[in-house]
Order: sequence, then C-alpha cells, then structure tokens
Amino acid sequence: MIFEYALTYISRQYMNRNLQVHSSFIPSDYRTPPEKPLMLYIHIPFCEELCPYCSFYKVPFEKSLAEQYYESLFREIEHWSQRGYIFDSVYIGGGTPTVLPGRLADLVALVKKLWPIKDISVETNPNHLVPQYMDPIKDSGINRLSVGVQTFDDSLLKKLKRYHKYGSGEEIARKLSDLQGTFDTLNIDMMFNFPDQTDAMLEYDLSVLNRLQGDQVTYYPLMPSRSVKAEIRSLYGEVDYKKEKRFYGKIVQSLEGHYDRASAWCFSRKGGMIDEYIVDYNEYVGCGAGAFTYINGEIRANVFSIKEYIEKMNKNQSPLAAGRAYTVADQVRYDFLMGFFSGYLNLTILKKRYGSLSTVYLTLQFIFMRIAGGITVEGKLFRLTEKGMYYLVILMREFFTGVNNVRQHCNIIDRD
Ligand SMILES: C[S@@+](CC[C@H](N)C(=O)[O-])C[C@H]1O[C@@H](n2cnc3c(N)ncnc32)[C@H](O)[C@@H]1O
Ligand code: SF4
Repeated sequence: MIFEYALTYISRQYMNRNLQVHSSFIPSDYRTPPEKPLMLYIHIPFCEELCPYCSFYKVPFEKSLAEQYYESLFREIEHWSQRGYIFDSVYIGGGTPTVLPGRLADLVALVKKLWPIKDISVETNPNHLVPQYMDPIKDSGINRLSVGVQTFDDSLLKKLKRYHKYGSGEEIARKLSDLQGTFDTLNIDMMFNFPDQTDAMLEYDLSVLNRLQGDQVTYYPLMPSRSVKAEIRSLYGEVDYKKEKRFYGKIVQSLEGHYDRASAWCFSRKGGMIDEYIVDYNEYVGCGAGAFTYINGEIRANVFSIKEYIEKMNKNQSPLAAGRAYTVADQVRYDFLMGFFSGYLNLTILKKRYGSLSTVYLTLQFIFMRIAGGITVEGKLFRLTEKGMYYLVILMREFFTGVNNVRQHCNIIDRD
C-alpha cells in the first residue's frame, strides 16, 4: 500500500492547490468559440430528500423555486448559442434532474432546437422509474438514463437513508430490469467502501448486477469530501483505503466477465456513457447554479446560491462567481488525468495540442507510474496496467473530492 498512500497524499496536495478558483478572476472573452462541438453540462440541484453521504451540490426540492430556476437556465443556455458555441452532447446531472419531468422535457426541446444534439444523458433516482416520470422523459428524446442505486443491500440502503424513499434492493432491481431496452444506455450508479459495507454486502451487489446484465455500471468509491466527512464518520465510521483497494479488485474480477471496462470505474456492455462530462470531452461548458466550465484553458464556476443565480439571469448578468486560468503545464496534467481515465494516453494527441515539449510536464508522473508498475509503453501509447487502473481510481477519487471541496468553498464565498 506504500505507492497507494503516497499517491493519495501527493494527489490530494496537488488537487487542493490546482483546483482552487478565485472570485477576482476575469475570464478571457467568449468571441472565439471552438470549431468542434463541445459537451454541455446542465445542473439541476434539487432533490426530494438529501442523502447524508452526498457531496454534490444539491438543495431540498421546492416547486416554485425550481420553476424559476428552469427559466433562468433557459436564458443561460441561449446565451451560449448567441456566442456561437456548438454542442453535440448534453449531460443533465444533479441533484435529481427528473423532479419536474415537464420542465425537463422543455429543456431538452430547447437544446435540440439550438444544436444538432446526438446524445442526451440524464440522472435520476429509483422512485422516478414509473410512467408518470419516464413517459415524458422517453418522449422528449433523452436517450441515456443513469439511475442512482448505490447498493441492493436493504440494511445498507437503510443506513444510507434511501430505503424508505426508493424502496428495497429487490424492488429497485425489478424496476431496472423492466426498463431494459427502453434507452440506448441505462447506467446504474453504485458505490463501494462505506465503512460498514461488508464483503458479503458487496458480493450480493455484484451478483445482482451480473444477474441484471444492464448496459452499464459506474462504481464510485466513497469520496468523503470536506462537506460530508464528519457526517460520514459519525454515521458509518472511518474510511479504510485498504478495503477500497480490496473491494475494487473484487468488483473488477466479478464484473469483468460480463462487462468491458470503459474507464477506471465504469463497466459497460455498450461502449460507454462515461459518468462525468469532464471525461469524454477535454473542454466543456456547464450551465446552472454551481456548474463548472472548462474552456480556453480556464476553469470557471457559476454562483452557487440559487436565488443569486436567478437574480443574475433575470438582470442579464454573467452567473460566473470565480475561476482560474491554467498554465500550459496545468492543462497538460489535466489532459493526462482525463486521458488515462479511459485506460491509455496517446502522446501524439498531447503533443499536437500543446507542442512537442509538452510531455516534459509529465516527467515526474511518468517516472512514478513506471516505478509503481502502473503503465506499460507501446510506442507513443502509454497503457495502464491492472495496478495502474487502481492508481487511476485513487487519482480520480482525489480529483472529484477536490472538485467537491471547491464547490463547498464557492458556496461559502456565495454566502459571504
Ligand atoms: C450526485 S448523484 C445525482 C443523481 C441522483 N440524485 C442519484 O442519487 O444517483 C450521482 C451519483 O453520485 C454518487 N455519489 C454521491 N455522493 C457520493 C460520494 N460522497 N462519494 C462517491 N460517490 C457519490 C452516487 O453514486 C450517485 O448515484
Ligand atoms: S445522492 Fe442523489 S438523491 Fe442523494 S442527495 Fe445526492 S444528488 Fe440528491
């Protein structure tokens, strides 16, 4: 575990430093949109009930506030069209984007009117897998659905405070089974390494997943970012990274015969709807309260307060709260992380994007990965070994935790 602990420590320091954003940041202009289509991420921060372990930006659902929020979102989305940006893929995440299915259908109609969209992915929860929610969603043209399950074990679902709201593991499995074939991709979000999750609980989850033979499974390691760390410790206990490694090994071993590995923690039978918008495209735009954008080598964060977001959009002001311009070295390292998430890195692409000397910025990373047995080299292609896949889980865990820490930090700036 020496390399694993070292990697956790180094990447935590690195993410804390490099993901910081500043409210004094002034973005470069929007007048030169990239020629190629980008990914559009849209954040719907409302949930009917909040889960105690969840570190994403979300608030309790209030219908009238959510209605106003949608109007503001429509405005922000139209601004990107007026700036000449083109998107071909949309990821609507949350929170729970399906809380208002009618408004969600309006949102989908708008993006389809503005751009030639190929794929629209939406996140949801098991209580919305019923005709009242699913019919308008299917009719709108959403073709990829991601359902948050976390576990099929009833005792764990109770501890996660999801049983009373989303039903038993068996009920959820039945709904997922009934839904198969309805969407191009049906993804199941699972989580592992809860302190009181036992080997038997994990094995049960894996057996249900293998029985279901769904299109895709995304298996997140528990990420205890600052906002939920104390809650996780008091409700479930201390997070154990040795167990994380062991559980990850079990997950890979069990799912591998049934699914292909689309990324370090995404297992697919259909080529992949990779969990987070940041992975598929090296640049993306985020709309909505608390959404992040990465363009022109700059990371930009929208305001978190929903009321402030609505006010700004009503006044036709920018919703931007903070940001940071990355150096070329930062951009190369960011692409390194995202490239490797899918299992390999092509140096030719990096050099084409940032110049022939750009790989100098990765010297330490390559040395570490080679010594730790994380990569093999095939010409200009760096491929992750089995060990390397787990190193990537660590890096991505620290990256997502870092992003969620920034979210919390921005939330505090907003409230000041
Ligand atoms: C942010 S939720 C949004 C979609 C939906 N509300 C749900 O519960 O699935 C997406 C997924 O993030 C994952 N997630 C939430 N909090 C997490 C945490 N602290 N660590 C790791 N994964 C987490 C869960 O697997 C969840 O399904
Ligand atoms: S896990 Fe999903 S339902 Fe639970 S609080 Fe987070 S976003 Fe909401």
